Amino acid sequence: NALQKLHTFGLDAHANAVRVIEDDAQLHAFARHAGSAPFWLLGEGSNTVFVEDFEGTVVRIATRGITVEETHDAYCLTVAAGENWHSLVEWTLSNGIFGLENLALIPGSVGATPIQNIGAYGVEIARFIDAVIWRAFDSAEVHRLSAQECAFGYRDSIFKTELADKGIIEQVELKLPKQWQPQQAYAELAALNDPTARDIFDTVVEVRQRKLPDPARLGNAGSFFKNPVITREHYLHLQQQWPAMPHYPVDETRVKVPAAWLIDTLGFKGKGCGGVRCHINQPLVLVNEGQGTGEQVLTLARAIRDQVQDNFAITLENEVRLVGKQGLIVL
Ligand code: EPU
Repeated sequence: NALQKLHTFGLDAHANAVRVIEDDAQLHAFARHAGSAPFWLLGEGSNTVFVEDFEGTVVRIATRGITVEETHDAYCLTVAAGENWHSLVEWTLSNGIFGLENLALIPGSVGATPIQNIGAYGVEIARFIDAVIWRAFDSAEVHRLSAQECAFGYRDSIFKTELADKGIIEQVELKLPKQWQPQQAYAELAALNDPTARDIFDTVVEVRQRKLPDPARLGNAGSFFKNPVITREHYLHLQQQWPAMPHYPVDETRVKVPAAWLIDTLGFKGKGCGGVRCHINQPLVLVNEGQGTGEQVLTLARAIRDQVQDNFAITLENEVRLVGKQGLIVL
């Protein structure tokens, strides 16, 4: 029941039991009895960090299946929650279906993508989600939630709020328009001249491999914190002391500030606690150098959060899910 290989951060944690769900019958049976004992749902474990032994059953969703329907203007994909995200991106491209290329190489399973509305290089998955097929634990009934009902926001959805722990995502329906346009808002993609979807895919893969640590080699769960959104007033005030602070407008009154810059500016790059460190190239990513412990993760994350609060009056929220003995824990 070791969890080390079941989550990409790779801490030495255990659960009481591990159960793997591979088909609809197992999924249905699990949903009907979900209330009876504590459990934690897991896809590929790339956004969950087990900081303590979990006193319950870890349930790993490993269902498979991709179906495609073609309409006059789009490809409609129905994908099982347990499919690997990056393999799906590759599969679509090699079948002449474009749109997901900016989201290449994001670790994890398809079923996890709507929960935190994965996003990278100027695109969020919400743009392509037609509906999410979700089974409620109380009734064991299946619901088809439209994209609007999913209430997507930056790294956010109804599955993290109202519906958290209330059911299970079984399938994701994606709608990819046949009329394709490259999304080049992100600086490294803007340089490409008249790119194909494959060019964007290749560039995203190259950028990610250069900037982000490979979880297969160095334990990590991607960005540890969300990029904070603050008021423009707050930003203008900070700018007097920190003229170089980057910022991106969200709307007329709010701006987003890169958490990586705040953490970098406070000198955390390459620094850490025991076997857990801020990555040397991208300090927003905490890495496990092999012998890291859950306690060290919490100590470092709290030190970052407190220093960001003290120096910038900004409250960082964790982006990864931290799991302790009883389930989700708050930093
Ligand atoms: N920066 C520094 N020092 C550094 C690195 C970055 O100051 O060492 C500053 C720079 O100003 C840079 C800015 O931070 O322009 C943003 O950095 P980067 O482009 O690497 O992206 P990010 O905002 O840190 C977000 C997502 C990533 C996603 C990238 C690319 C969040 C929490 N993270 O990171 O998603 O891959 O943009 O689009 O929104 C993830 O969620 O796990 C993840 C990796």
